[in-house]
Amino acid sequence: MTSDPGTHDTHTAPAARPAPLVVTADPALRDELQRLAAAAGVTPDLAADPGHALRSWTRAPVVLVGGDLAHALADLGPDRRDGVHVITWGATDTSLFRAGLALGAENVAELPRSEGWVVETLTDLGEAARPRGLVIGVVGGSGGAGATTLACALGQSAARTGDTVVVDTDPLGPGLDRVLGLDRHDGFRWDALCQTTGRLSARALRQALPRRDRLGVLTWYAGSTATLQAFAVREALSAARRGHETVVVDLPRTPDPLVDEVASRCDVLLVATVATVAGVASAARVCARHDAHRGLALVLRGGPLLDHEVARATGKPVLGAVPHQRALAEAIDLGLGPVRNHRGPLGRACADLLVRIAVPVPPAGRAA
Ligand SMILES: Nc1ncnc2c1ncn2[C@@H]1O[C@H](COP(=O)(O)OP(=O)(O)OP(=O)(O)O)[C@@H](O)[C@H]1O
Ligand SMILES: [Mg+2]
Repeated sequence: MTSDPGTHDTHTAPAARPAPLVVTADPALRDELQRLAAAAGVTPDLAADPGHALRSWTRAPVVLVGGDLAHALADLGPDRRDGVHVITWGATDTSLFRAGLALGAENVAELPRSEGWVVETLTDLGEAARPRGLVIGVVGGSGGAGATTLACALGQSAARTGDTVVVDTDPLGPGLDRVLGLDRHDGFRWDALCQTTGRLSARALRQALPRRDRLGVLTWYAGSTATLQAFAVREALSAARRGHETVVVDLPRTPDPLVDEVASRCDVLLVATVATVAGVASAARVCARHDAHRGLALVLRGGPLLDHEVARATGKPVLGAVPHQRALAEAIDLGLGPVRNHRGPLGRACADLLVRIAVPVPPAGRAA
C-alpha cells in the first residue's frame, strides 16, 4: 500500500486550486481535517456518506477517507485511483488496513501523529498546477570526464527559464554547492534530510535548499561523512521533481544499487564522454550498465573521435558536445559556477543541449 505520490502528479493546469475530498461522518475528524486543510491553504469538499463521496471520487486530486466510513465506502467498490488515504484517530486496527487495501489507499494515517504529513500532502495540491519537472541525470563515462561540471552548467542554463535544482549524489565529489558558489548559503543539505522520516512537500524542499535566484542545490556539508539513505533520496527526488521545472542529478560512477535506481528514475541520462579511444571504451561500460535506460545519450568533450564513431562504438546516440571552457577553475573559485557567461562556449553548448533534450533523443548510430 505504499506508493510514491510524486510519480503520479502528471496534472494539467486546472482553472482553480483543486479541492481535496474529505469523507467522514465523524464531526470531530471532519473539524480536524478542515483545520489541517486550512493550514495547508486549501478548502476541502466534504462528504458525510459514501454515496456522496462516490460523486466526487475521481475528480478530487486527493481523497482523505475517515476510518469511520472506510468499510462502507470499500463495500461500494469505487474505481481504483491514486491519492487515496485513510485517516483515523489514534491506533489503527487491522480491519482498517483491509478496508484501505480494498480502496486502493496509499496508506492508513493516524491522527494526531500524522498531522504534519496531512498538511504536507494538502500543501502539495497547490503545487499540482505545475507540470512534473524534467529529471536529467549526468554520469561520467570515465573518471574526470566532466560530469559534475556538465551537471552544474546545465543547472545554471536551465535556471534562466525555470526553477531548477542540481542534486548531488556523489558523496566523494567536490560538493555541488562549492562548484556553484552556493556553499555559503544556508539551507537544507542531505545531512539534515537523511535525519527526517516524513513526507517532503515540493514547496518546503524548494524553499529550504541553498538557492540563488531560480537555481537551488542539494548536497552535503563540506567534510560530511554522511551517505545517502534510500528513503531520503526517493522523497527528495520526488519533491524536487514536483517543485522544479528541471532537476539535474550528478551521479557517481561507482556501482551502487541506489544510484542505479536514481538513474532509472531520470527522464534523460547523459553520459559525459571523453571522445578518445580510452574514454569511449570506458563510457561503453557505463552505457552497458544503464543499457535499459531509454533516455540515455552521450555528451562528448575533447578527443579526436567523431559523433558517429562514438555512437557506433557504444550503440548509444550522441546528443551533443561541450567545448573546453577557458578559465573554468577561476570561475568556480570566484563562486560564479562553470557558466560564467551564458554567451560563452559552455553556456551556449548547455542551452543547445537543453533544447535537444526537450525533443526526443535520436536513435543510436546517427550523429545528432
Ligand atoms: N567543459 C570543460 N572545459 C574545461 N575544463 C573542464 C570542462 N569540463 C570539465 N573540466 C575540468 O575537468 C576536470 C574534471 O571535471 P569534473 O569534476 O566535472 O569531472 P567528473 O566527471 O565529475 O569527475 P569525477 O570522475 O571525479 O566525478 C575538472 O578540473 C574540470 O574543471
Ligand atoms: Mg564528478
